[in-house]
Amino acid sequence: AKPLRIGLAGLGTVGIGVVKIVQQHADQIALRTGRAVQITAVSARDKSKNRDADLSAYAWEVDPIALAKRDDIDVFVEVMGGHEGAAKLATEAAIAAGKDVVSANKALLAHHGQALALAAEAAGRVIRFEAAVAGGIPVIKALTEGLAGNQIKRVMGVMNGSCNYILTRMQNEGLSYAEVFDAAQQLGYLEADPNLDVGGIDAGHKLSLLAAIAFGTQVSFDAVELEGIGAISIDDINLAADMGYRIKLLGVAQMTGRGLEQRMTPCLVPADSPLGQLQGGTNMVVLEGDSVGQIVLRGPGAGMGPTASAVMSDVLDIARGLRLPTFGQPASTLALPQAARSSTP
Ligand code: NDP
Ligand code: HSE
Repeated sequence: AKPLRIGLAGLGTVGIGVVKIVQQHADQIALRTGRAVQITAVSARDKSKNRDADLSAYAWEVDPIALAKRDDIDVFVEVMGGHEGAAKLATEAAIAAGKDVVSANKALLAHHGQALALAAEAAGRVIRFEAAVAGGIPVIKALTEGLAGNQIKRVMGVMNGSCNYILTRMQNEGLSYAEVFDAAQQLGYLEADPNLDVGGIDAGHKLSLLAAIAFGTQVSFDAVELEGIGAISIDDINLAADMGYRIKLLGVAQMTGRGLEQRMTPCLVPADSPLGQLQGGTNMVVLEGDSVGQIVLRGPGAGMGPTASAVMSDVLDIARGLRLPTFGQPASTLALPQAARSSTP
């Protein structure tokens, strides 16, 4: 079979992780997919930057739109970030040029996932985004494949590692929000705009994507009830602990008689529950299906290796010829959700 040729847009944390997997596991990937998977061309802004990887075999495009249109790529892998501008334009250009797309960009998908999925379907292409939700945890595949026979009742979980890192260090070490926020920023855990993390927006993006898949609705990020962790004090954490609880930025999405309820807010969870015991930057997603009952997935929600692992799972599906629709069913069949406000304050 012909090799699958990747155009890789973005050579930051995730992009370099993808380069490493493609280079280090080439033989295993070929065995698993029945064909070679190779990177043909890459894009990033600064060609002179030292990126701790050998990129000499790849063509370079400073403009990701030019990369998206190249004749020598089959799959456009978008790991640049940003929900407007270059990432959106290049993704649209890739679909228009007949490429499949793999993206880690939850912001782009939460805002434009429906339109992009419709465009991909019209062009006979697929757009996949396993890495966009909970990093290395294969939660989208769990919903669209492993639990495909279930009616999903509820999805919930901790989907932002930075917030969980901040809350657990406040809890464990008695540090203030400001002190741990600075540490998280120095460790590179936070998004370039940290309000995306601590404001609950990043986790809200992820929840809206999971909800669309779980309930067969169009993505409705604007309907997510959002509250971040910026106002949580050490006193709040201590008071919760005295009562046997932990404070977590918890996302819950469920279909109620009043419509789709989506909320991403600080919540009290029992200290001895799996969610209460979740430490550091780890993510946890709980899925409830009518036949299977409850499934708990726990793992790294960010970082070079985990996120690239998820990107590659989508690339390998495409290499194998698995062409599942973006949200688990055709985008044209996704219902317009009626938003229900949560019954809890
Ligand atoms: P980085 O900031 O580390 O890397 C971004 C890369 O994109 C850089 O190489 C940058 O170029 C390039 N880039 C940005 N804008 C442009 C542009 N206009 N034209 C060309 N290249 C551009 O980001 P991450 O790797 O951390 O994240 C990438 C995506 O993955 C984001 O959508 C993020 O939300 C998502 N994601 C990230 C996770 C993580 O753990 N980091 C986890 C899950 C998802 P240059 O290097 O020259 O500046
Ligand atoms: N900033 C995100 C987090 C990165 O902390 O979870 C992964 O999406």
